[in-house]
Amino acid sequence: MTSSKFSFAFLLLFLLFFTITATNIISDTCKKCAQNDRTLSYKFCVTSLQAAPNSSSANLRQLGLISMKLVQHNVTNTKHFIKQLLKNKKLDKFVRVRLDDCLELYTDAVPTIKQVMKDYKSKHYRDANIRLSAVSGASTTCEDGFEERPGFVSPLKKRDNDTFQLSAIALSIVNMVSSSLY
Ligand SMILES: *[C@@H]1O[C@H](CO)[C@@H](O)[C@H](O)[C@H]1NC(C)=O
Ligand SMILES: *[C@@H]1O[C@H](CO)[C@@H](O)[C@H](O)[C@H]1NC(C)=O
Ligand SMILES: *[C@@H]1O[C@H](CO)[C@@H](O)[C@H](O)[C@H]1NC(C)=O
Repeated sequence: MTSSKFSFAFLLLFLLFFTITATNIISDTCKKCAQNDRTLSYKFCVTSLQAAPNSSSANLRQLGLISMKLVQHNVTNTKHFIKQLLKNKKLDKFVRVRLDDCLELYTDAVPTIKQVMKDYKSKHYRDANIRLSAVSGASTTCEDGFEERPGFVSPLKKRDNDTFQLSAIALSIVNMVSSSLY
């Protein structure tokens, strides 16, 4: 009885310890990311990483790969979303031209982020960094196109921003991992 109480208390402590440790890795990493890049939202970083599968038990290196998977999920989704939008025959010429450009940018981003994960796994951090910057650039270039018409709200505003934020998080983690002793 006493012994089972003891092991139960021990188990609770053990779980508490790991919950705290895991939460700290995500929030510590996001704090650093937000410090490295002022355009990055700490809250978005924590929410996105916490919601990702397997993130609660991840170390910094694994968190990097998890953030890349989030980018991959986003760019793949956005590519399909743009294709759907382009099916609308009544699209304004201005919007169609921009969406065509964005489709090309996001279509290229899909294999690029896949390559980033390979680079990262094989510790080619410089290549991962350069390719991640290209993915981030795709989201900003896409968004900038719509700004050519003052007051126009891009139909991809939230998606472009999400991809930008996620690739900035991944980029920060790559830089942290490559400058540590991993
Ligand atoms: C981009 O998203 C972040 C996090 O959701 C938010 O804080 C920020 O205001 C957004 N920026 C723009 C330009 O929409
Ligand atoms: C989460 O971890 C399990 C066990 O290691 C693995 O089988 C699964 O594929 C992982 N999920 C993702 C989304 O990486
Ligand atoms: C992009 O990723 C963020 C964070 O994981 C998520 O909240 C959002 O729903 C994703 N957007 C798309 C279009 O997949």
